[in-house]
Amino acid sequence: MKTMATRLAILGGQPLRLREFTRWPVFDDRERVQLEEVLTSGSWGGYPSPNRKATELESRFAVLQGARFAIAVTSGTTALEVALKALAVGPGDEVIVPAITFAATASAAIACMARPVFADVDPATACIDPASVAQLITRRTKAIIPVHYGASAADLDALTVLARERSIPIVEDCAHVPGARWRDRGVGTWGALGCFSFQSSKPMTAGEGGMIITDDPELEARCQSLINCGRRRPGDTFETPLLGANYRMTEWQCGVLLAQLDRLPEQIERKSRNAERLRAGLNAIKGLHAVPRDSRLTREVIYAFIFMIDESELGVSRNRFVRALRAEGIPCGVGNDPVYRSALLPAESILYRTACTLAGVPNPPPPDCPHAERAFEHSMAAIPHEVLLGGEHDIDDIIAAARKVAGCAEELRAARLEPGG
Ligand SMILES: Cc1ncc(COP(=O)(O)O)c(C=O)c1O
Repeated sequence: MKTMATRLAILGGQPLRLREFTRWPVFDDRERVQLEEVLTSGSWGGYPSPNRKATELESRFAVLQGARFAIAVTSGTTALEVALKALAVGPGDEVIVPAITFAATASAAIACMARPVFADVDPATACIDPASVAQLITRRTKAIIPVHYGASAADLDALTVLARERSIPIVEDCAHVPGARWRDRGVGTWGALGCFSFQSSKPMTAGEGGMIITDDPELEARCQSLINCGRRRPGDTFETPLLGANYRMTEWQCGVLLAQLDRLPEQIERKSRNAERLRAGLNAIKGLHAVPRDSRLTREVIYAFIFMIDESELGVSRNRFVRALRAEGIPCGVGNDPVYRSALLPAESILYRTACTLAGVPNPPPPDCPHAERAFEHSMAAIPHEVLLGGEHDIDDIIAAARKVAGCAEELRAARLEPGG
């Protein structure tokens, strides 16, 4: 006989978790002090740039990732677009991106009038599969953008070998993982350029913002010019003037990010510790498989804690499981849809169609990405990072809720649920 506590919340029982988890963004007096300093300095950003806070943020972020240069920009989207433009990606070119990512990874290529080409993902991690990338390279391929997805890193060993052999630059999309290290070296430094996002959900945020890193002085100069309306600094030696735009970050954002940067190492550690506990707890439940931490990822940064669901082992669909878990009070989503069918990347857009036509493929064939399709439709589940900023009791609640739902899989499968959600 089920009590209110053992009955699934989605079927009218009591949710396992009634309290809120840690709220994001986290802030304290450090952000207030930074904002006050910007206010009274009278230097709020703009041209001439970069200003004092931007310079400090750029140099501290470069140190964090172990890069020679960092360039603060308005968003992760503009970071990607500028990085591709710095590499002279343009009309007629192709850029290989993973099928599972946010639209910006692909739309950055279109902003350069290049055609995005979609590689399948590794079913274990949802990161780009180097074998799929290798099959998609053509003479038009001008860049590869691996995304370090959720809390994982794309296989940088395999990708850097491939890129070197084929002389194709990599732009790492590190939007999810500021501070992460692969083989003790910062992500974003393995490719020609690395791009980060400080949008409001990200592990370090000022509401909006982005960063580009590179070790190459010529690429740095081109990025600086591109984000600063095409202006050149004295001493810049790149040849053709660039058509830039205003993609400069304000001092307000830089100040807030300096405070966020102070807090980042402790948050990274805490989330990583909690992730270990969560992995062990979820893996003990039949049908749930947390994405394992790659031993080469020597510093793990969590943006989304991803776990995979085996529907036949679990006995209920991924969608029903996630809905039921949410009803128990656990924030959980299903990750990104395959980007080529995202509503945010409309194939009918004139720019997209033109980019494809210029690359000689006016009607691109449907991408062949079975692992991405399966991950999105049936297996992937994602818990947002702030949930892992709490204590062990928070993690134990997630595990207990997952166990409760999994334990009622049969009933959940047979239940009549309201549509949606
Ligand atoms: C993988 C990935 N790349 C790029 C971006 C774009 O960043 P922004 O929102 O700062 O433009 C995002 C943002 O959500 C992202 O998740």
